Amino acid sequence: SQLEMFVDEVPDMPRIKGFHLLNASPLPKSLRIGMFSKKWKFHRDLPPTRVFAYGTSKEAATVPGPTIEALHGVETLVKWTNHLPSKHILPWDPTIPTAIPHKGKGIPTVVHLHGGIDEPESDGHSTAWFTSGFKERGPSWTKKTYRYHNLQHPGTLWYHDHAMGLTRVNLLAGLVGAYIIRQPHVELPLGLPYDDEFDRPLVVCDRSFRTDGSIFMNSTGNNPSIHPQWQPEYFGDAIVVNGKAWPYMIVRRRKYRFRIINASNARFFKFYFSNGLGFIHVGSDSAYNEKPLMIKEFLLAPSEIADLIVDFSNSNSDSAILCNDAPYPYPSGDPVNEANSKVMKFIIKAGHVLDKSKIPTKLIKYPSPNLSDASITRYIALYEYASNTDEPMHLYINGKPYEAPVTEIAKVGSTEIWNIINLTEDNHPLHIHLGLFVALDQTELLDVDKFRECMKKINDAIKCQVDKYARGKKIEVPAHEKGWKNVYKMMPGYMTKILVRYSYIHSNASYPFDATAEPGYVYHCHILDHEDNVMMRPLKFTN
Ligand code: C2O
Ligand code: CU
Repeated sequence: SQLEMFVDEVPDMPRIKGFHLLNASPLPKSLRIGMFSKKWKFHRDLPPTRVFAYGTSKEAATVPGPTIEALHGVETLVKWTNHLPSKHILPWDPTIPTAIPHKGKGIPTVVHLHGGIDEPESDGHSTAWFTSGFKERGPSWTKKTYRYHNLQHPGTLWYHDHAMGLTRVNLLAGLVGAYIIRQPHVELPLGLPYDDEFDRPLVVCDRSFRTDGSIFMNSTGNNPSIHPQWQPEYFGDAIVVNGKAWPYMIVRRRKYRFRIINASNARFFKFYFSNGLGFIHVGSDSAYNEKPLMIKEFLLAPSEIADLIVDFSNSNSDSAILCNDAPYPYPSGDPVNEANSKVMKFIIKAGHVLDKSKIPTKLIKYPSPNLSDASITRYIALYEYASNTDEPMHLYINGKPYEAPVTEIAKVGSTEIWNIINLTEDNHPLHIHLGLFVALDQTELLDVDKFRECMKKINDAIKCQVDKYARGKKIEVPAHEKGWKNVYKMMPGYMTKILVRYSYIHSNASYPFDATAEPGYVYHCHILDHEDNVMMRPLKFTN
């Protein structure tokens, strides 16, 4: 039976400051955040669910975890500790490349700050995992305490698990949280709702629950003789916001800021309001737009972030339902149903309120992409290798397994063009660690079957004469996504051109760390089930 919608109030996750204040001057702070196994109530009528949760203690741990509020220019140190039991609550699959502790006990975890510009030793490399009490450590593990420089432009980030082959189950179990870098002297003058009860992170994902409250994940692979458990995409039938299924929020007739993070494994959302209320888009992923843009709907892929203002004083009704109509898998899967077409409800209190926040005409201008800065052009092809029953076996990038020698070696401070060729049927949200990029355009591939055949044979876009195929119609990047991003949606049957930058976007300062150090970084599809099997490759740097 279907759970009743809009019966739980959406919580604001605990906010933890990532800095100290000493006589009004900020100082670095050391945090200790653990991963705990505990019970979490997702819905009034659902028994408590066993989850893995981040928190400063087991009692304080939440799903999603606490929102970490860092200050630009002040380091935050976090000792991430693993207190998880020896067995996972969800089915994982040893037939895909997976972090497996030697003694066979414990749950490997490692934390990545998504959108962070940080040293490789603190980036949460997939093979830098560790188990409870650091008893076992992955091959590229280097240290217990991670250092977040917070020297980048202000905006919204998120932290989540990144352990090799376990990312999809560790996130499903609850290991996600928001992280905000604030730069008050730059952001306060904008006048937007800021750092108060009207500035709210919303972590959205889909989950399925059994009647006993436990998280349901299909434990039989589509192709069990090859992958007994692994499924190409996880989709849940309940939509969860800040750890509550279809919650409600009581709001006033004024402006609110929502930092919406799509923490789903595979679900894209196309958000819109039931009463036609619009969104004023102010930022994509971690960076502000150049100017606010009024939009009526927007597509958010797994791991993308939308920073938005909603002005409820413009509402023509006393409630507004945040809805979704993205097919799953995106774009050619099933249409939404009653359950997954609703996200949450805003109940709008009557009466006039004083709202001092405003929408400025300009936000923050970062340098525009300059193609002539690019020192290299890369071609990155996304494939699917299917079994003879036509089920995907693995989803390599450039036909290479994760362990194949690194092919993407970039210069620190450089700019590169990447042409990502999507030869699959799905849209893949591509995420690059360390770098920021601008999506330039998407060009349809003509004769894609022929091109794919060539690529599968010789695996070389130039030799396969990519220019002969990338001649179809062009799709423009939507205006609100033209800025610097961390993730972009690779359309199936298209070549997407992006300009990647391995330097700060707000200043000419060079990185205060050695980006060439081991273990380096990764780039990958952010559909977690794809990333795990293994649409991920190493990314390394030289000087
Ligand atoms: Cu959000 Cu490599 O991940
Ligand atoms: Cu993918």
